Amino acid sequence: MRVPLSASFLLLSLLLAPSPAAQAQKPKAPASAADIEQSITALLGQMTLEEKIGQLTQYSGREVTGPASNRKTDLLNSIRTGQVGSMLNVKGVADTRAIQAEALKSRLKIPLLFGLDVIHGYQTVFPIPLAEAASWDLAAIRESAHVAAREAAAAGQHWTFAPMVDVGRDPRWGRVMEGAGEDTYLGSEIAKARVLGFQGEKLGGTDAIMACAKHFAAYGAATAGRDYNTVDMSEQQLWETYLPPFKAAVDAGAATFMNSFNTLNGVPATGNKYLQRDILKGQWNYQGFVVSDWGSIGEMVPWGYARDKADAAQKALAAGSDMDMESDAYRNTLAKSVQDGKADVALVDDAVRRILRKKFELGLFDDPYKFSDLKREKKVLNDPKHRVAARDIARKSVVLLKNDNNTLPLAAPPKIAVIGPLAKAKRDLAGSWIVLADTNQITSVYDGLVQRAGKKSQVLYAKGCDVMGDSRAGFAQAVATAQAADVVVLAVGETWDMSGEAKSRTDIGLPGVQEELFRALKVTGKPVVVILLAGRPLIFNAIADQADAILYGWWPGSEGGHALADVLFGDYNPGGKLPSTFPRAVGQIPLSYQQYNTGRPVVDPKNIRYRSAYIDAPNTPRYAFGHGLSYTTFKYDNLRLSQPTMTAGQTVQVQLTVTNSGKVAGEEVVQLYLRDLVASVSRPLRELKDFRKINLKPGETQTVTFTIDQNKLAFYNSRLEWAAEPGEFQLMLGAASDDIRLESKLTLLP
Ligand code: GLC
Repeated sequence: MRVPLSASFLLLSLLLAPSPAAQAQKPKAPASAADIEQSITALLGQMTLEEKIGQLTQYSGREVTGPASNRKTDLLNSIRTGQVGSMLNVKGVADTRAIQAEALKSRLKIPLLFGLDVIHGYQTVFPIPLAEAASWDLAAIRESAHVAAREAAAAGQHWTFAPMVDVGRDPRWGRVMEGAGEDTYLGSEIAKARVLGFQGEKLGGTDAIMACAKHFAAYGAATAGRDYNTVDMSEQQLWETYLPPFKAAVDAGAATFMNSFNTLNGVPATGNKYLQRDILKGQWNYQGFVVSDWGSIGEMVPWGYARDKADAAQKALAAGSDMDMESDAYRNTLAKSVQDGKADVALVDDAVRRILRKKFELGLFDDPYKFSDLKREKKVLNDPKHRVAARDIARKSVVLLKNDNNTLPLAAPPKIAVIGPLAKAKRDLAGSWIVLADTNQITSVYDGLVQRAGKKSQVLYAKGCDVMGDSRAGFAQAVATAQAADVVVLAVGETWDMSGEAKSRTDIGLPGVQEELFRALKVTGKPVVVILLAGRPLIFNAIADQADAILYGWWPGSEGGHALADVLFGDYNPGGKLPSTFPRAVGQIPLSYQQYNTGRPVVDPKNIRYRSAYIDAPNTPRYAFGHGLSYTTFKYDNLRLSQPTMTAGQTVQVQLTVTNSGKVAGEEVVQLYLRDLVASVSRPLRELKDFRKINLKPGETQTVTFTIDQNKLAFYNSRLEWAAEPGEFQLMLGAASDDIRLESKLTLLP
């Protein structure tokens, strides 16, 4: 039967048309920004005030995850009726699908956002962020965040509450472990790398999650290093030291911010209009949204800044806090405040718009289950490439603090005694803030050494003592084990829960009798290599003075034991550099490398009368910012400036050569420091302005170039203007803040 042409064409096109199922599979082209805004406006127009406030409400998922039987029905009902916009701590595809299905029963079917603290890995545990900062390897840091995002996104997560970009200069504060250390420049570079690692270039892919720059702001300056305490500082210090990493996160496209528990000069961050509206959403024109830290809106009442939760909610909304994590303040009081004219519905709408925008950008309205795919979860979470990435950055994070008589690398000695309370530890190597608790997948120091030593060396073991407590019962066994060996590897430090949130310490020495155990082992006369595993800088003066070699391993994650064995045996030449100053005594804190000369500097340490000094300790740290040794040596030569002077609009090229003057290949972090010799406000003795991590073969020479522009010379003056002032600058090139190899002068002309 002849079929008319038009009908046959129609038939053909029908045959070729994708089926509805295929149509549904075909990824929709991401909507344009304009389309998204239109969709939000349309949706906002349909929403009741309660539904709007629902989008501003976030709860922890513990109450509704796990077996259906123990799910709290009242929270489930709130989700079903559109009174919740986001959940945190709902893990895995099964639970996120189930809870999302509840949200899609609501009138407008607005999908939930799932957030989680993916701080250093999801299933594959990476070194803690402070450890990664010690690598100074921005590509490796970005890859670490990318792997974490891949795993989390495959397991139903849309959003991580990371990176923590708080500058931390007080190791009494346990949360230094979550950040990038004490330096603003290094911290800003790492903030950018982590945001891009988590989010990729654009949100919406199923191997990326929203980042969250936290804790806004200046949380790392908590008075006396006590968590959740007040923060008081000058505007200049806020702008010069603490805000730049947050600005770097904005510039990198961070989808969200989280505010902080502290007050800043008397005003709680979550109620701080200056921070959230004037700076973040105003000057920086930030388009993402701000989530409060856990309960911080409600905490304005005990802070004495709000009379009750209604007052707190009004102040938080006015100050720019968009989403309320776990305080109930918005959900329980905001509607009435709006009706009573005490809260502006336009601010509610702005907050809702910011949150809905992210849900559209993630593609959740097209497919609310997009990130909850069981097959992908199984495949991605067990990708062997992830452990390779974890081992790579764990090795790069290890800092060789000391290596007398080239004790390291070990040359396969017949017998190695692995001793200490952390020698066989697994959970402790993961540190705090891990997501999944499968600690059997973590390689201990002992396991890593045994696997690496193989048949060449016999590995002996003794625990010696616990991390905490004063029992010396294990000393004798440990000493005997040391005496039977050729070299001792002692693994000591903190347990995984001694650093992190709410873990401030007044004494940051080695806990328990660990340093006594070290002394007992040292008496045997055997070489003692100490591996320190901790979430923060510790004080360990006896070990620092008497150990033959010291490796700072931080909390190195799943591949920690392998990474440390790689370094111990020289399979990897350590190149880590400290991102934080290590004090000699708690009394020196806060102590960063950015010291000022003062009017009475110490010129001769033997003559400190009426000088800015202590009578019971030197001013210098135990280990300086940027310190880290290698199994090779590096020579710095031929420092040249393209010109000795510059005007504001010009740039100067700084060039030098670095040579590997040793026998093995190695990595060096060439650091550029600057000092403004005379300015309208006194300037620090040195500020890190740039760095290059280079890899050199034995005998290889590389030319390293830096560019100085006026931005690198600028600072906030007493009128809070960011400006470079004409005058002389000292340029310092070095391997550490206290290991300056070459110097020169640069003049900024008027
Ligand atoms: C915590 C932390 C914050 C974390 C949040 C959610 O109290 O301060 O960093 O992201 O609650 O767990």
